[in-house]
Amino acid sequence: MDKVNLGSQIFVYPMPVAIIGVMVDEKPNFMTLAWLTRVNLDPPLIGVVINKTHHTARGIRQTRSFSVNFPGQELIEKTDFVGMASGKNIDKSALFDLFFGKTKSAPLIEQCPLCLECRLHGISEFPTNDLFVGEIVESYTEDRFLTDGKLDLAKMKPFLLTMPDNGYWSVGERVARAWEAGKALFNQKQ
Ligand SMILES: Cc1cc2nc3c(=O)[nH]c(=O)nc-3n(C[C@H](O)[C@H](O)[C@H](O)COP(=O)(O)O)c2cc1C
Repeated sequence: MDKVNLGSQIFVYPMPVAIIGVMVDEKPNFMTLAWLTRVNLDPPLIGVVINKTHHTARGIRQTRSFSVNFPGQELIEKTDFVGMASGKNIDKSALFDLFFGKTKSAPLIEQCPLCLECRLHGISEFPTNDLFVGEIVESYTEDRFLTDGKLDLAKMKPFLLTMPDNGYWSVGERVARAWEAGKALFNQKQ
């Protein structure tokens, strides 16, 4: 098979799009983020990778808390905007309706179908970016985004990012059940 080499500057494909909320100098600030992952099961830890120069990184160091908000597709324009404008010179504090949870210091976005409230657990530093690991202390949604008590992607309508073509994508159909699709093969190999 002929493989095409795409080089080393390649990204996870696709990435969920989130908005990080944080207080910086006592003012709410928001930035778009696609580099994120759960990093531990118990306690529930999530890692977000942020460029060292971003205003948001300063706020997380100040307050030791932040929020991870997953927007629906109706928020694409505002999400893209907070991914271009920096709180260093543009006030992004009044863009969303806010609420506060347990930490009282991480601004959460009312309009997002899923909001995670995080307390800073640790920071790993890298040459251009820092990995901020937060413990999820609470998560918030609304009944209208649930089916049988579980989050329903079809109702949340999140969007995904691909780089370097810079596309926003909707999520398609569920194609199989996880931990089920490989069961027959798994049983056969036991
Ligand atoms: C779709 C999208 C995804 C982004 N993902 C990240 C990311 O994962 N990490 C990061 O540091 N910046 C990311 N950015 C860039 C920041 O959101 C952007 O530089 C923002 O203006 C920083 O805001 P701040 O200076 O107020 O913190 C992304 C931007 C867009 C549009």
